[in-house]
Amino acid sequence: MFMNCMEDLEQLHSKLREHLKEQNEKWEHFVYSKKDGFYQGLEEIKIRGSRSSEKRFEEYNIEKYLSKEKKALDIGSNCGFFSIFVSKFVGNILGVEINPYLIAIANDTKNYLGLENAKFTNSSFEEFKTDERFDLIFSLANDSTIDDNTKFNFSEYIQKILDLLNDGGIVIFESQAIDTMVSEKFEEKFRFLNGKFEVLEKRKIVSEYPVNVPYRDFVVLKKLDIA
Ligand SMILES: C[S@@+](CC[C@H](N)C(=O)[O-])C[C@H]1O[C@@H](n2cnc3c(N)ncnc32)[C@H](O)[C@@H]1O
Repeated sequence: MFMNCMEDLEQLHSKLREHLKEQNEKWEHFVYSKKDGFYQGLEEIKIRGSRSSEKRFEEYNIEKYLSKEKKALDIGSNCGFFSIFVSKFVGNILGVEINPYLIAIANDTKNYLGLENAKFTNSSFEEFKTDERFDLIFSLANDSTIDDNTKFNFSEYIQKILDLLNDGGIVIFESQAIDTMVSEKFEEKFRFLNGKFEVLEKRKIVSEYPVNVPYRDFVVLKKLDIA
């Protein structure tokens, strides 16, 4: 049994490496974690990545906002490992990701783990369309990306999040690396957010990647009724 699992895991790893190879060859926007291959890590499948999903979850300390009654959306879900980790704590989670090679990694992994409540859709956030509304939205290092794929300005990005949130819905927001390096950049965004949401938490969190950005800004926001 153990041998079978090991063999299956090896098969999964080889499939995932194949997706990374294709990404390398064909995705001109590939800028993250060139050395590690995977931006996110997931212990359950023994992939280390540049940023451990388990460590991030612990550092965010967000379990109190999650429950099996909640529907979640993860913007720019990358290889899906963080969404997959969070799927244990929510009713369901949908990841939206522009890079098709990362979507393939996410789908192979959730199939390997036999998860029914994590889904991934290959779309830009800008073009993503749904009739669903969410109780929780993850915006992790995603409000503007260094790969040249963000077309929304910050106000458009936040408006779309507000439109997708149920009343009283929660946003878990982590700053992109560059906004933390120049603190005024995040504070300007924060002033904008503060007018649209109730701020439940605001703090710095430890970040493993990139190494020159050991901390990022982190906020938990609740949609205001008037927003
Ligand atoms: C810095 S990574 C953050 C990944 C993930 N949110 C996390 O924190 O682990 C940015 C991700 O957003 C994706 N991305 C970039 N622009 C996007 C867009 N307009 N719509 C959806 N995904 C996008 C990239 O392909 C990449 O996976």
